[in-house]
Amino acid sequence: MTTYQLRATNPAKTRVDALVVGVVKHEDGPRVAAGGEAVEKAWGRKFRPLLASLGVTGKAGEVHKIPTNGTISSSLLVLVGLGEDTDQVAVRRGAGVAARSVPNAASVALALPAESPELVRAVTEGFRLGGYTFTTYKQSSDSSAPGTVTVLSDAARKSEVSDAFEAAQVLADAVATTRDWVNTPPGDLRPPAFAEAVEEAAHAVGKGRGRTKVKVTVHDEKSLAELGCGGILGVGAGSDAPPRLVELSYAPKNAEAHLALVGKGVTFDSGGLSIKPAQGMHDMKSDMAGAAAVVQATLAIAALQLPVQVSTFVPMAENMVSGSATRPGDVLRMYGGKTVEVLNTDAEGRLILADALVRATEAKPDVILDVATLTGHMVLALGDRVGGVMGADDVVAGVLAAAEVAGESHWAMPLPESMTERVRASKIADLLQHDWNRMGGGLYAGAFLQEFTEGMPWAHLDIAGPSFHSGSPYGHVTVGGTGFAVTTVVEYARSLASA
Ligand code: BES
Ligand code: MN
Ligand code: ZN
Repeated sequence: MTTYQLRATNPAKTRVDALVVGVVKHEDGPRVAAGGEAVEKAWGRKFRPLLASLGVTGKAGEVHKIPTNGTISSSLLVLVGLGEDTDQVAVRRGAGVAARSVPNAASVALALPAESPELVRAVTEGFRLGGYTFTTYKQSSDSSAPGTVTVLSDAARKSEVSDAFEAAQVLADAVATTRDWVNTPPGDLRPPAFAEAVEEAAHAVGKGRGRTKVKVTVHDEKSLAELGCGGILGVGAGSDAPPRLVELSYAPKNAEAHLALVGKGVTFDSGGLSIKPAQGMHDMKSDMAGAAAVVQATLAIAALQLPVQVSTFVPMAENMVSGSATRPGDVLRMYGGKTVEVLNTDAEGRLILADALVRATEAKPDVILDVATLTGHMVLALGDRVGGVMGADDVVAGVLAAAEVAGESHWAMPLPESMTERVRASKIADLLQHDWNRMGGGLYAGAFLQEFTEGMPWAHLDIAGPSFHSGSPYGHVTVGGTGFAVTTVVEYARSLASA
């Protein structure tokens, strides 16, 4: 376990194994970023020539390690390139890179730009998440997290700054647990196990007098049949691990708004009878990333005791192939009564979300957000670092504004009327799940979900691309589950409270 502390001490006099300082790229050469001035001063006139001979440029992602030989109190100076800016995005990225460059230091101090609450948050989240590892299934790991991490900020004594530091730890923990759940092998996180993990996590928050807890209800397959959740049951029909619908409720007395969250929890997506190609199928363990994100966002909102009521609906199913699996051509009756003609069992996410969205409308929230690894089309459109957001204009705008504060990249996509026409074109049921026209497939999925929102204020976040990272780590984003959307959803809730 790593302990984080916030201090206003002089970085040159901070006694740690490694001290991290930022370097900004500038046309006249590299410059030490805010927070590191005292280190440059302690080094004196030899500092700039040293940077020059090491080839330090300040380019984002660059790392140089310099033994200090007593020049400053830390044994090692780690210079991290921030690029041309020192905004929260650059600082979060730099702190993430720093975390991976000190794999075995027992104590680390971060003297990065941290004069505002936003920057303290970026330093703290960036370091915690950039150093994230998933070692549950390894017999031994070759790096060890530091025992103490000290975030240095001249403004450490301001309450906004220490609040931001505390909140950053809550958020980083929520993102890290989301990553853990996504990274867990799919055989170990089938719907019943996932539901239990959510229950356990929910019971752990809100402990303490006068704090609002999170209530949990788990609907099992019997209860789902009684409710008439034909989408969740239909997708889960091919698996011998039965589906679940988990509902969370956080209802503080001082709530100023009511937010409903829905997250896609397909614990493994083989495609069902419309089976996926073998190559890459293993990554479909991440098809519950939306569910993990909304659960962890809910628990973070509760841990921060934000004055917003949150009702969260998490459908969980394993999309498998068997004699009992749903067939292309089947018609499912969703919760609330709408019927859907299934043409492709690999377009399963929209089916489980339909039931959950209707449940969400019944809670009569002010606004609904759903988060889902819904379509490969969105990955083709926006790549693997940007999420697509569709729905009511003002809700979409609110999500984009929240994403800006959270330091995530989301992009607005349209829901054209012509998509709704395609969705309503079934000859035998109320709605058509899929139509084999690949054009605008991500928007078709959004238009399909819209049919289950009863015209309420709603936005759909398709995170199929950014929720899972297969390349090498960058900034605070590590390999595997990324925890994408957690911080944006929490920030969106915060914006409802202050609206
Ligand atoms: N879970 C996938 C979407 C996905 C793709 C997530 C790539 C992450 C990375 C979803 O269930 C799916 O299979 N979608 C199909 C929909 C199609 C059949 C309309 C797709 O995108 O191909
Ligand atoms: Mn699928
Ligand atoms: Zn899927």
